[in-house]
Amino acid sequence: MRIPPLTGASVMHIDVLTIFPDFFGSPLQTSILARAQQADLVTIQAHDLRDFTEDKHHVVDDYPYGGGPGMVMKPEPFLAATEHLIARAPAGTPVIFFTPQGQPLTQRRLRQLTEYPHLILLCGHYEAVDERVRQTVVTEEISLGDYVLTGGEPAALVLIDAVARLVPGVLGNESSAEAESFSQGLLEYPQYTRPDELRGMKVPEVLLSGHHEQIRRWRRKESLRRTLARRPDLLATAQLTEEDHNLLAEIKQEQQQQAPAPAEASADI
Ligand code: ADE
Repeated sequence: MRIPPLTGASVMHIDVLTIFPDFFGSPLQTSILARAQQADLVTIQAHDLRDFTEDKHHVVDDYPYGGGPGMVMKPEPFLAATEHLIARAPAGTPVIFFTPQGQPLTQRRLRQLTEYPHLILLCGHYEAVDERVRQTVVTEEISLGDYVLTGGEPAALVLIDAVARLVPGVLGNESSAEAESFSQGLLEYPQYTRPDELRGMKVPEVLLSGHHEQIRRWRRKESLRRTLARRPDLLATAQLTEEDHNLLAEIKQEQQQQAPAPAEASADI
């Protein structure tokens, strides 16, 4: 059987098409992803592209027309396999191809993807995949960033991990998916645990105070401070409240106070 049947019991099913199904073995059998699958919240099947070849040697690549380095993945196995997977998926299921030419993966897109009960992920390899695969079955192309991976598999694994943890019930504590970095368009505030002093470094007093409102305000301010320092681009799109603007003004004022005074111009010159 080329493709095992779908049970239809899970909240989200993810099909991955790859020439290296073993790549996904250990990561999918570890920690949160393993538990999510055991609980039937997410089911994941990695399908071997070579099962969809028609020749004796299960060849999946060929030389590029026009010459040049590297090999190109043949279109027929990709098309046959993807069409099989599409046929058993609900209409409108995203068919995602991983490439540095795609749209950068964001938390926002991941949240949108959780609206679908089924995802189909296509992993390319070698230099390229025949363009006609991208033209026919692929509904969107996703990039993990401006760098080149060995293939689509690491990117697919990242997407699976990041989307699975957003499926309700996968994270034990629902609030942790909400509070952390990016969920509100900002970077997360610093976190501490015991001891309250380590090598002369003290946990900020406010966190020991038990004063919930002051702690909330401190965390929000530190979130804004960290975002301003490390990813100011995120502030342009984050939904900031009036309190946030006031906190940012406080942060900037503090920065000005801390900045070294400009060297005084010498009167003699
Ligand atoms: N395949 C190779 N490099 C990639 C990247 N940066 N993102 C997604 N897929 C890729």
